[in-house]
Amino acid sequence: MAIIAVLGRKGGVGKSTIVGNLAAEFADMGLSVTALDADPQHSLSAWASQGKGMLSRCVEKIKNDHADSLRAKARAAEKDGNLVLIDTPPGAPDTAFQAALVADLVLLPCGPSPLDLFSLKEPLSLALKARAQRRSKRPRIRFVPSKVLLHTNLGRGLSSSLEEMGRKVLPPIGQRIVVAEAVMSGLTVMEYDPNSVSRLEFKKLASAVHKVVMR
Ligand SMILES: Nc1ncnc2c1ncn2[C@@H]1O[C@H](COP(=O)(O)OP(=O)(O)OP(=O)(O)O)[C@@H](O)[C@H]1O
Ligand SMILES: [Mg+2]
Repeated sequence: MAIIAVLGRKGGVGKSTIVGNLAAEFADMGLSVTALDADPQHSLSAWASQGKGMLSRCVEKIKNDHADSLRAKARAAEKDGNLVLIDTPPGAPDTAFQAALVADLVLLPCGPSPLDLFSLKEPLSLALKARAQRRSKRPRIRFVPSKVLLHTNLGRGLSSSLEEMGRKVLPPIGQRIVVAEAVMSGLTVMEYDPNSVSRLEFKKLASAVHKVVMR
């Protein structure tokens, strides 16, 4: 199994949304999943507690004063045969670094504005620092275009702007109302509207992420 950490300097770029929906897609692939909520805002836990969907069974809250035990918790969950996702807070380099130190893959979601691209620098350098400290090719690092308005020039150009930053780019997640509607029901997009375009996007992303971690 593997540990996947989602990092970002900026708030609101879709980290928790990506963690929750990837958790659902991986479970749908037959994998056992644990999603660690390491953000003191605990938005992933709040989402999970809204409903009786799969998130209510796989999200584990990391209490604020237990941020240091994040690595141990992630390793223990992995050892139990789970694919582990870690949701991290924005602007918390210590937690982000702990997550990168234990992760096989770091996902860096990025919104469509040029300002979103600038804010990737810090989490990218944290992930590279973790890799240097581990003297390993891990964590692997991938960008994820997030909340993209795919019918706009800015949206269509995001993947190539990210590629120019020298990292591989995974399939994009479009900005779609169904994503927020699912959260309001305490569900993931897969559960809320399994035939939606949005669901297909998360499925494609999950399949690409799975390929990277199982390599
Ligand atoms: N693809 C999407 N389409 C529509 N709305 C989205 C999408 N992704 C995220 N959102 C909405 O944007 C807001 C921020 O998303 P989310 O909480 O996942 O970001 P975050 O990066 O985890 O934020 P924070 O840094 O505060 O933890 C939420 O209201 C969420 O429902
Ligand atoms: Mg979040």
